[in-house]
Amino acid sequence: MIKKTKTGIPGVDELIGGGIPDKAVIIVSGSPGIGKSNFAMQYIYNGATMFNEPGVYITVEDTPENVKAYAQEFGWDLDKLEKENKIAIVAQPIYGDDKEMKRGGKDRKDTLSETIKRIGAKRVVLDSVTLFKYLFNDDIARRINLLNFIKQVKDSGCTTVMVAEQHESSPNITYLDEHFLADGLLLLFWSRHREKAERCFVAVKMRGCEINSDMRPMKITNKGVIVYPTQVPLTLASD
Ligand SMILES: Nc1ncnc2c1ncn2[C@@H]1O[C@H](COP(=O)(O)OP(=O)(O)OP(=O)(O)O)[C@@H](O)[C@H]1O
Ligand SMILES: [Mg+2]
Repeated sequence: MIKKTKTGIPGVDELIGGGIPDKAVIIVSGSPGIGKSNFAMQYIYNGATMFNEPGVYITVEDTPENVKAYAQEFGWDLDKLEKENKIAIVAQPIYGDDKEMKRGGKDRKDTLSETIKRIGAKRVVLDSVTLFKYLFNDDIARRINLLNFIKQVKDSGCTTVMVAEQHESSPNITYLDEHFLADGLLLLFWSRHREKAERCFVAVKMRGCEINSDMRPMKITNKGVIVYPTQVPLTLASD
């Protein structure tokens, strides 16, 4: 029986066979504003507060201050958790010249291992893998660095969620390298019918697990993300 790391996000663990397999690296993919970062932060927050599993959140596209401010809107006090060494929010900025980025990239990787060790992290989020790849010049370097990142987090014993940007807002997406590399893939997308729009969730794959890949409605509330594991999206049910 594969051990699972529970996301604790309402509805999600039921649909993916109990949780993310331990030490897996999965992708949460979706269009702009669909809720990827909220989802990923909730995974880290729940780990720290519900499961006694510290987590590292790597933000490539935003500052740790902003990330904390967004979380505050859901009532999540990340400063407090950071002081208690239950979470760490690490910036991996994408600016700077190539050389600096490469040097910085290497230094920051060391920092990541140290951070994981320091707080005894069991969970990692990379938000986002799409921008992470832009740190490197060519396709081969991108792929090698992504594989290195995946190896590093797996070796450290962490269970990892990588956020990926998706240009299409539908379940019929163009699959990318990382979708195949990852052990699991969860899609967030808009379902539309006439003037109605509704967030939806689909578990596309989770290696070694029995999953339910039906489309399910998803909401962002003032408590965070909720997936409704048995409901049919209203936009699909209507004629
Ligand atoms: N309290 C709330 N209630 C309802 N919706 C909210 C609340 N707080 C944030 N949102 C929604 O969350 C969305 C942003 O979610 P998030 O930042 O996770 O998206 P994302 O997929 O990471 O976007 P991007 O691709 O731009 O990084 C906003 O568009 C907003 O509508
Ligand atoms: Mg985001």
